[in-house]
Amino acid sequence: MKTTTFKGRDFLSETDFTKEEIETVLDVATELKRDRAMGKYHDDLLRTKTLFMIFYNQSLRTRNSFEAGMTQLGGHAHYLDPGKIYTPALEGKEVAYSTERVSDVARVLDRMGDAIAIRCYGDPVDWEYGGAHNLLLEFARWADIPVLNMEDDVYHPFQGLADVLTVKEKFGGFKGVNFTMSWAYSPSVHKPRAVPQSAILYASMLGMNVTLAHPEGMELDPQVVSKCEEYAQAAGGAFKVSNDFEDSIANAHVVYPKAWCPTVMFKAPVGEDDPKKSMDIFNQNKSWKCTRELMETADRNAIYLHCLPADRGYEVTNEVMDKTSGSGWQSAIFDEAENRLHVQKAVMSLVM
Ligand code: CP
Repeated sequence: MKTTTFKGRDFLSETDFTKEEIETVLDVATELKRDRAMGKYHDDLLRTKTLFMIFYNQSLRTRNSFEAGMTQLGGHAHYLDPGKIYTPALEGKEVAYSTERVSDVARVLDRMGDAIAIRCYGDPVDWEYGGAHNLLLEFARWADIPVLNMEDDVYHPFQGLADVLTVKEKFGGFKGVNFTMSWAYSPSVHKPRAVPQSAILYASMLGMNVTLAHPEGMELDPQVVSKCEEYAQAAGGAFKVSNDFEDSIANAHVVYPKAWCPTVMFKAPVGEDDPKKSMDIFNQNKSWKCTRELMETADRNAIYLHCLPADRGYEVTNEVMDKTSGSGWQSAIFDEAENRLHVQKAVMSLVM
């Protein structure tokens, strides 16, 4: 385990930490997970500490894993609904007596607690790609305490950590693991790109053989793709993009199909601010659904991952989601969801 200084640092994207630091986080998460199973709780690690959580969007896993994690470490997580406080807003987006400038909110919370965690994407920033990430960067600029990204419009770094911890647990490491991140059909186009972008960044950084699969029009951020290529080269893994769903799953060890919105969904200049055109592209690709037959073509010991919530019957069939025992390939979605708790406890312990 590399010893390094995490204390006081923000965690807004996977690129904030080096590969060695990510490996340290995974080691700490494993240790906390094992200790808890053995009845050792570490409930003094964040005693008296407060995490402020600002959710512009809905959540089940993120909210509850951060809250439970803070409780288990002896601290407290405080839930803030932007509709019930003065909505934190960037300069130029303010509304009198309804919003409060981010720089002021950040400096107030900084005087009272020990970290600020934020979720923001999509409607709250009018689908301006990168608008939510900029909001988080502004919080980080003004707060001296750590700012944590609970999913914005570019990255979902804690989800990605849980994903790779699950891979490590199932395969013992990352070398030689064929990791397929694929788009899948959903009846909703209101889905950010953060999960697939974080997943491929970590998978490339850690040296897996990564395939990103999607229909045309569903491309991810070119800067993220180019960072993946750089990571893959440095780590001795591989990275490729495919438009062939079936081919991307054949022989994969990790099968991770989920929906994300097409580029046209975003406001100009990135996209066309066009939900109808987005839905048309989605509807042309309904066959991108993960089925048992497709999973049978993956590696015999493959795992199916999904960040959840999944659109059952659209992105994936029930029999794939629910195959969590028996021989052959497995769904590992509940291990993956549980691992949110352990990786977040690890990061909070290190930076707070
Ligand atoms: N995977 C994930 O972030 O789930 P929630 O939207 O429920 O937080």
